[in-house]
Amino acid sequence: MTDIAKGLEGVLFTESKLTFINGSEGILTHLGIPIQEWAEKSTFEELSLALLDAELPTAEELARFDAQLRANRAVADSVLDVIRGMPRGVHPMQALRTAVSYLGLTDPEAEEITPEARRAISVRLIAQFATLIAAINRTQEGQDIVAPRTDLTHAGNFLYMLTGKEPTPEQARLFDIALILHADHGMNASTFTAIATSSTLSDMYSCITSAVGALKGPLHGGANEAVMDMLDEVGTPDKAEAYISAKLDNKEKIMGVGHRVYKNFDPRSRVLRDYAEQVANKEGKSNYYQILETIEKTVVDRIGSKGIYPNVDFYSGTVYSDLGIKKEYFTPIFALARISGWCASVIEYSQNNRLLRPDAVYTGLEGQHYSDLKDRS
Ligand code: ACO
Repeated sequence: MTDIAKGLEGVLFTESKLTFINGSEGILTHLGIPIQEWAEKSTFEELSLALLDAELPTAEELARFDAQLRANRAVADSVLDVIRGMPRGVHPMQALRTAVSYLGLTDPEAEEITPEARRAISVRLIAQFATLIAAINRTQEGQDIVAPRTDLTHAGNFLYMLTGKEPTPEQARLFDIALILHADHGMNASTFTAIATSSTLSDMYSCITSAVGALKGPLHGGANEAVMDMLDEVGTPDKAEAYISAKLDNKEKIMGVGHRVYKNFDPRSRVLRDYAEQVANKEGKSNYYQILETIEKTVVDRIGSKGIYPNVDFYSGTVYSDLGIKKEYFTPIFALARISGWCASVIEYSQNNRLLRPDAVYTGLEGQHYSDLKDRS
């Protein structure tokens, strides 16, 4: 009997210098540096550049990259027209998938797959994902699109384009930290999808379009939105324990907990929990945090022994809500951060490319012959 690595669990298919994860100890590092240090000391711009080039940038390199991002924020009018023309009420991840695919049609270099072209396109994609997502949000809400500004940070400019209001430095920094925490995470499903597409020597826009599709699912990026649905369904903290217990009794999955790799606390959820708590402590805020605390305790008490703990999606939604972001946009915001990891991973894999082509154990019929349709019952 041939062993099948279901879900490709534990299958090693490449080497990477970008991200290290120790799931049992709850460790995540990029270029060997703990995620907590990136969150505390760095910026999304710096982490993105470090991932793209697989090395820590100098101050000069970072300034140049930052200037490139700012200069590339605007997208062609035809892209905005496509976004304006999308039906109302579509999920923003459907819209993003279409928008990024169309964006490729406006990039004269789109079909180039040299290392230099992949790198240059990555800069544009990182910069323009923010513009696409904000424009989708604005048009879906029936509002005018807000043009990007070049005097704001990547995080600050995104919040500005989304809300039409310049965020406070604290809001921009909080969002920057959320982007840092989501920027890369090893061979997750969407990164693997991007790599699988690039392994056929396809173009960057195809890689990223397929990655957006993979991130969309509720077992991956869609979980943060599902957590907010759950919080709304629970309603008040006093109902949380009974709600979760009933779900677990019914063998239902709780959103925002459990992870294929982490069998302990996801370190990103620890960082986000601190910020979610700060948000909750602000006057007049909802009781989301208290509900989350009770859910966390109930889950850890009941199924922590199976290695089920809060993941990054558990606390992110409450932080985003506080920044005025609607829950349908949580997954696009995940994409806004993960675009760096996707691009960096495609660039890294392309340096030593081999077509990805796994196999399946055949369990179908054998020795059959074609029968005419009229003879089949
Ligand atoms: N709620 C309740 N029980 C769970 C959960 C959960 N969220 N996740 C796993 N379990 C249980 C399983 O039922 C299984 O129990 P059993 O041994 O009694 O059958 C046991 O824990 C092991 O779980 P697996 O399904 O083998 O774990 P797997 O690695 O396949 O699942 C996954 C990982 C898909 C993320 C899962 O935990 C899940 O569905 N979580 C909810 C969705 C979610 O939050 N996704 C975001 C992941 S993080 C990210 O993509 C950014």
